[in-house]
Amino acid sequence: ATAGFATTAQLLKDINSVTVIGAGLMGSGIVQVAAQANCKVTMVDTSDAALGNGEKLISTSLKRVARKKFADDEQQQKQFIDNVLANITLSKNAEQAVSDSDLVVEAIVENIDVKRTLFTSLDKAAPEHSIFCSNTSSLPISEIAAATSASRQEKFAGLHFFNPVPAMKLVEIVRTNAVTDDVFQSLQDFTTKVGKTPVSCKDTPGFIVNRLLVPYMFEAFRVLDRKEASIKDIDTAMKLGAGMPMGPFELADFVGLDTMKFIVDGWAKEGKIEAALVQPSPALDDLVSQGHLGRKSGKGFYDYNK
Ligand code: NAI
Repeated sequence: ATAGFATTAQLLKDINSVTVIGAGLMGSGIVQVAAQANCKVTMVDTSDAALGNGEKLISTSLKRVARKKFADDEQQQKQFIDNVLANITLSKNAEQAVSDSDLVVEAIVENIDVKRTLFTSLDKAAPEHSIFCSNTSSLPISEIAAATSASRQEKFAGLHFFNPVPAMKLVEIVRTNAVTDDVFQSLQDFTTKVGKTPVSCKDTPGFIVNRLLVPYMFEAFRVLDRKEASIKDIDTAMKLGAGMPMGPFELADFVGLDTMKFIVDGWAKEGKIEAALVQPSPALDDLVSQGHLGRKSGKGFYDYNK
């Protein structure tokens, strides 16, 4: 680089201050792991109720972590929790929150228009060096990033955490063609700092995990649709014969049947994945239309009220 001119690399620094937009299931988890890694984190949502919900999720999870870390020392447990919570600030003003952020992670509703509108306004409010990330599971990163300026698009990636965030060790870093090496490196370093293992992939539907897992789960639904085996036997087979921690139906109930349907219908519409892999399943569609969405509604492929 020419002396006197700041290169992109010089503009980037270690990621220490983080803003997470969305205090739901995923956002609160991301806030927690960043705060545990000693980042200064601002958690943003639109209402006090949503922020309170995020706070509750974090304190419940932190108690569990503290008990695991400091088994029989209540004093140390309390100290740990207080230290982590001291790194977290709450806000309902996203633009103000990002004004001194090294990293902005978005974990709001899975709707591309809402995400694009948010990022257009954050692009103007955040410092030039800020890296922007979306935790989206199913939307193309480059289409969200396109709502920001060309210089921001070089610093715009997918940062895909898994549920539950404090427990799951993987983060997929989704790299569009615009993302620079320095930005990618910063995100790898950040992922490692928060105790996760990064993998990277191109901006393709489902990234790595869901691109393989979702078609597998839909094939299980189709085995059921064809009446070739029962729910129970398919789950038992995949747990005991393939070493899966949960069978495909248990997993679908955990993820949410509406979410499963949403992902595959979206992929079918995009047309980037072979049609046979994104065929709808009548068994799944029936349950969803009856409001049986899995664990969260008390019934899905299994009945949790019994
Ligand atoms: P959630 O529904 O639990 O939380 C979303 C939160 O965003 C809510 O608190 C809502 O009030 C807030 N919100 C909505 N619009 C907002 C806005 N404009 N500004 C600020 N806050 C806003 O959703 P969840 O499950 O945490 O998902 C969030 C994102 O993470 C989605 O993009 C989803 O695809 C992705 N994801 C979800 C996973 C899961 O297992 N649930 C796994 C990996 C990614």
